[in-house]
Amino acid sequence: MIRITSHSLTSEPLFHLRAGDASYVFCVFHGFLLHLYCGPAVEDDDLTHLLVKVGHDSVVPRPADTPEGWFSLDIAPQEFPVYGTGDYRPSALLIRRADGSAATSLRYVSHEVLAGKPAIDAQPAVHAREDEADTLAVTLCDPGSGVTVRLYYTAMRALPAVIRRAAVENPTNSPVTVERCASASLDIAAWMEPAELLHLWGTWGRERTVERTPLAHGTVSVSSRRGASSHHHNPFAALVTAHTTETAGPAIGLSLVYAGNFEIAADTDPFGSIRFTAGIESTDFAWRLEAGESFVTPEAVLSISGEGLGKMSRTFHRLWREHLCRGEWAGKVRPVLVNNWEATYFNFDSEKLLAIARDAAACGIEMLVMDDGWFGTRNDDRSSLGDWFVNEEKLPGGLRPLVEQINALGLKFGIWFEPEMISPRSRLFEAHPDWALGTPGRDKSVARSQYVLDMTRPDVRDYLFETISGVLSSANIEYVKWDFNRNLTEAASATLPPERQGEVMHRYVLGLYDLLERITSAFPHLLLEGCSSGGGRFDPAMLYYSPQYWTSDDTDAMERLDIQLGTSFVYPASAMSCHVSASPNHQTRRETSFETRGHVAMGGAFGYELDLTTLTDGEKDLIRRQVADYHRYYDLINRGDLYRLILPGDTVNGKTGRFAAWMTVSADRSEALVTFVVIRASIHPVYVLRLEGLDPAASYREESTGAVYAGSTLMRAGINLTSARRGGWVDGSSAVMHFMRV
Ligand code: GLA
Repeated sequence: MIRITSHSLTSEPLFHLRAGDASYVFCVFHGFLLHLYCGPAVEDDDLTHLLVKVGHDSVVPRPADTPEGWFSLDIAPQEFPVYGTGDYRPSALLIRRADGSAATSLRYVSHEVLAGKPAIDAQPAVHAREDEADTLAVTLCDPGSGVTVRLYYTAMRALPAVIRRAAVENPTNSPVTVERCASASLDIAAWMEPAELLHLWGTWGRERTVERTPLAHGTVSVSSRRGASSHHHNPFAALVTAHTTETAGPAIGLSLVYAGNFEIAADTDPFGSIRFTAGIESTDFAWRLEAGESFVTPEAVLSISGEGLGKMSRTFHRLWREHLCRGEWAGKVRPVLVNNWEATYFNFDSEKLLAIARDAAACGIEMLVMDDGWFGTRNDDRSSLGDWFVNEEKLPGGLRPLVEQINALGLKFGIWFEPEMISPRSRLFEAHPDWALGTPGRDKSVARSQYVLDMTRPDVRDYLFETISGVLSSANIEYVKWDFNRNLTEAASATLPPERQGEVMHRYVLGLYDLLERITSAFPHLLLEGCSSGGGRFDPAMLYYSPQYWTSDDTDAMERLDIQLGTSFVYPASAMSCHVSASPNHQTRRETSFETRGHVAMGGAFGYELDLTTLTDGEKDLIRRQVADYHRYYDLINRGDLYRLILPGDTVNGKTGRFAAWMTVSADRSEALVTFVVIRASIHPVYVLRLEGLDPAASYREESTGAVYAGSTLMRAGINLTSARRGGWVDGSSAVMHFMRV
C-alpha cells in the first residue's frame, strides 16, 4: 500500500509505503528527497519531526535556495544522495558532464503510482502481480545537466519487503558519464543503536560465513571487484543492533539482485545517522550515456524485520521462492540426483557412468549428472573449455546412446557446462584469440589454466547459444549445471571503443543474463543449477535463472553446517544444492556417519556425490530410506518456514561450537521437522532444545517416540534430548525429529 499526503513543513508530498508489517517513509523538502523511516510499521503519517535540525557552522554548506537556516544536505537524511553539492558522505550518484565537471544535484519533478511491479528492463528482478505489490516511481532532475533520475520503489503487500532501483536518463544533446550509481541508498536514523553490520564472507570451500561487525564513524563495507558476486562477500548485508538476535530486535537486510561487482556500505555520520548504500562497485565502472540513452541499475531488495534475523531471512526465502525464481522448476519437486564429480573426477566413460546409474536406480535416485570432462580432450582441467563437442573416446557414439540407456533405467540425465570460459588449449581459442577478455599489450592472467570469454560480444554469445543448444537437442538432457570457475582480470573488450571500456564489467553481466535468458527460453523444461567453484556466484540474480545453486565444493557435513546455515540468512533451502559425499571427506579428510551426512544434506536440494558402486548394501539401504524421507518431507523443508535454533558458532551452556540445530515449520504450523547435530560431544552432556514457530495452543506428537508435548512447552521449556540417541551422542552424531499436530 502506498499512502501519499503532504507534510507540515513545506506541504510537499510525503510517501508512506506499507509493505507487510513494515513502513518505509520519505518526503520531498524544497525538491530534495528526504528519508524519514524504515522499520516495523508506524502509524504517524507526518514523520518530519524526525529531521535533525543542527545549528549551522562553516563546514556544513547549505543549498542557496532553501530558507531554513538549519537545513544542510550534509546532515539531512536522504533517499538518493548525489556527489559534489554539499553532501560529503558517500554518494549514490556521480555524473560527469561533457565539460568534465562532476557536481550533481537532484530535485523532485513528479511521482506516479504504478500497479503491481512493472518490468523495467531485461535484468533479473522480483516479479509481483497487481494484487501483490504497489510501485511508486519518483522522477528527479539535475538542473545543471538536464539528466533525470527515476527512482522505483515496490512495496510487497504480504511481505515486509521494499524493492528499489534507479534509472538515469540523458535527455540532453551532449553525452554524460555515470561514474557511480547505486541501486538504493537510505539514511537510517539513530534508532538502530548500537548498530552492527551483519554480512556473509568467505572464500572457496567456506562460503557465506556469518560475521557481525560494529559500525564505527566512517564506512564499513563489503564488496566484490571480481566480475562476479563472489565467494568472498555475498551481495547482502543487514543493519542490526548489538541486541538483535534470531528472534528479537530490528534487522534491515539488503540483498542486491546482481551477479557482478557490487558494494554494500554503511557509513556513520557524526550525528549517528547511518547511510546504507548498495549498488554496482564503482572502481572500474564508467557508463557513457549518449543523448537519449538511459542506464538502469540492478534491483536492491530490503527485508525489514522488527523481530530479529529469523524473520528477515524468512521474508527473503518467500520472496525468492515465490517472486524471483521462474519457470517450471521454481516450485516443482526437484529430482534426487547423483553427480559423478567426486566419484570419478575426469576419469570416466559411458560404462562407468552406467554402472553408477544402475546402482542409483536401485536406490531410488532419480537423475544422473555427468560433470566436467565429457567434451573436447578434457582429461584434466588444462584444456578444451569452449570446445563443447562430445569426446567419443569416453562416450562412444556420443550422448544419445548413453542418455537412452540411462533413461531406460528410469533416470533423468543432466550435464555440466562452463559456458563463459575458454582454455588457451582449445580449438576455440586457436580460432578466436580475441574472444577472451584481455587488455592489449598485457599478458592475460590465468586461473585454473583458463581465460574468460568476452560475454559483452554478441558473436561470442551466439556461438555459445548455438553450441550449447546443439548439445541439449542431441539427447534427452533435462538438467544443466552451469559452472563458472574463475574471476575476471584484464577486463577489456576488443570490440568496444576506449570511452566504453569502463562498461565491460557490467556489460559482461548483462551478456551473461542475455545468454541465460536465451537458453532458458529455448529449453523451458530444463532444470538449471548454478555453480561457481561451489557457491562463488550464489546470488539472487543467478537464482532468477537457476532455482538451485551448488552451495559449496566443500561437501564435509560439519563444514556444511556453517555454510548452509550461513547461506540460509538470505536464501531458502530450495535454492541450496546439498549432496551426501564420501567419508573420509575429499576436502577435509573428516569421517562422518552416513546418517549425519544425509541429515545435513537434507537441508537443501538433495543429492549424492560419491561412487555408488563402492557402497555396502547397508549404505544402499540407507540411501533408499533417505530418498524416501526427502520425498516425505519435501514440502516441509522446501516450502516451510525456517528457524535457526543453534548456529555452529553459538555458545551453549558455556561451550562454543558444539552443536547446530534448525527446524522448518509448515505454513499452517501443523507439522515441523527438527534437525540437531552434535559437532563435538562432551561428557555428561545436557541437551535441551527450545523450538520455535509452533502453535503454542496446539499439541504435537513426535513421531519416533510417540510422545506428545504442548506447543507452548516445546517452545518455552524445550525438549530434552540428553538420552534421546541410542548409543549416546558422539562427535558428528545427529537426529531428525518429526512433529505432527494432534
Ligand atoms: C567446479 C565445481 C565442481 C565441479 C568442478 C568440475 O569446481 O564447483 O562441482 O563441477 O568444477 O571441474
